[in-house]
Amino acid sequence: MEKKRFYVTTPIYYPSGNPHIGHAYCTTLADVLARYKRMRHYEVYFLTGTDEHGQKIEKNAKAAGLSPKEYVDNIVAVFKKLWVALDISNDDFIRTTDERHVKTVQKIFSTMYKNDDIYLGKYEGWYCTPCESFWTDTQVGPDHLCPDCHRPVEKSTEECFFFKTKKYLDSVLKWYEKPNSIYPVNRKNEMINTFIKPGLEDLCVSRTSFSWGVPLLENEKHVSYVWLDALCNYISALGYGTDHDELYQKFWASEESEIVHIIGADITRFHTIYWPEFLTSIGARLPDRVFVHGLLMMKDGKMSKSKGNVVSPYPLIDRYGVDAVRYYLVREVVFGQDGQFTPEQFVERINMDLVNNLGNLVSRTVSMIQKYRGGIIPTFKSNVNPSLDKELEDLCFTTIKSYEAKEDDLHVTEGYIDVMNLLARANKYIEETTPWALAKDESKKENLDSVLAHLARVIFVGTKLLEPVLVHKSKEIFASLGLDEKETDYNNINNEHLLDGKTVHKDGVLFPRLDENKEVEYIKGLMGNNGK
Ligand code: ME8
Ligand code: MG
Repeated sequence: MEKKRFYVTTPIYYPSGNPHIGHAYCTTLADVLARYKRMRHYEVYFLTGTDEHGQKIEKNAKAAGLSPKEYVDNIVAVFKKLWVALDISNDDFIRTTDERHVKTVQKIFSTMYKNDDIYLGKYEGWYCTPCESFWTDTQVGPDHLCPDCHRPVEKSTEECFFFKTKKYLDSVLKWYEKPNSIYPVNRKNEMINTFIKPGLEDLCVSRTSFSWGVPLLENEKHVSYVWLDALCNYISALGYGTDHDELYQKFWASEESEIVHIIGADITRFHTIYWPEFLTSIGARLPDRVFVHGLLMMKDGKMSKSKGNVVSPYPLIDRYGVDAVRYYLVREVVFGQDGQFTPEQFVERINMDLVNNLGNLVSRTVSMIQKYRGGIIPTFKSNVNPSLDKELEDLCFTTIKSYEAKEDDLHVTEGYIDVMNLLARANKYIEETTPWALAKDESKKENLDSVLAHLARVIFVGTKLLEPVLVHKSKEIFASLGLDEKETDYNNINNEHLLDGKTVHKDGVLFPRLDENKEVEYIKGLMGNNGK
């Protein structure tokens, strides 16, 4: 069934430090998907937010001499500002300290409790505060290190409520059988082999050793375990369990809606074991897809503040423009695989794809239409220049099809590689058809008309497909083709006559060429500066 609605979420980030380019990566990819689906006329709801409770935040706030709420308010403001700077089109921003969220978590806990899925007990084991996760003796090994982040764990003994994890395991395994529930599929196998086969422990879902959390109505000594609290954001933001649950009905409960969680590999277990179990416990349906993206690493490994290798997105946006940064994030790291940030590759990617390929094609084409045809785009005719025209027409058509299929399948990067290949083919077509020679020969008038019309069409198609990424430059390019906003609707993507008779305009340089040595030095300076 083709679904008409699309609900996409990012993880809600811990406001325990300023956002870095890794957070920008995940949110930008989710944004590109949301914009792509809106462009295709789906009803879209796009959620991001912050995960503000827990022991780690409480500790950090104390160290900063602030109350937890003051502490998170400061950092949440930085996250929100970044999403504005990156042109993130989220429909809502959920904070787990919002009253609407707190009430929903309490309600969900009570439902699970009434369903007899939760019992009171005592936890004895290990806790990783940075990851906010519980581990057993076997899992932490003799060195007592967190299996996820490899930092030392702490011994923890406290009264808590446990969730019966075996009760709903069948429902999780059934969900695993659906072809796309978890992507890439090796993540699913990892969950089965590492956590499910060895036997799942019941999960501790409340804490009593500190107080910065959602208070539980069943027992005032307890606050919700931060991961139960956090995962509920995906439905609390939609009004689940309230009198105003229209969004929940529309984007979650309805089978017409495709629900996609985008997450990093570090939090797969929570999203693909516990979250489906919680949902089953409260009788809600499971997401269609959990898409696990890779991490953006630095040359010396994971980005971390202590290593001083954190890159902040702000100075990059300031200097290179938001579209260039968005494009880099989407294109450089294949969605679903790990990737590496290097200043050299950042500069090279922008120069190669945006300056040489797209920028050049637009500026050459517009100049030629002005020079040879007084700025008027000639009427499109099919296959005037034998084989070359037809080849470009076919490539245009197949690129649209493959792009749609790839984006719908969340193979975001691959879809954009196809678009860049189309643009590169058009640049080559200029060399092959030699419009400057055709212009000198009156008998080749039709041939030149056709070349110019074909180039204009490829620019329109390529730009339209790039629009979810290049949110500003796409508008400039449409304007330079003489199109108004309505005409650029996706329904016109296959209309070969859209541009007939339009008047082109030349604006400034779309993407200025970057001086590689100078810019690499500049970015290295930012990294040395601890990313500030
Ligand atoms: O885990 N490259 O929050 P968090 C790419 N609050 N993505 C990265 C990244 C990197 N280097 N570093 C972080 C939490 N991310 C919980 C989530 S959800 C109900 C609760 C992204 O602030 C990636 O998506 O540690 C990762 O999963 C997420 O940030 C973790 O963010
Ligand atoms: Mg983390």
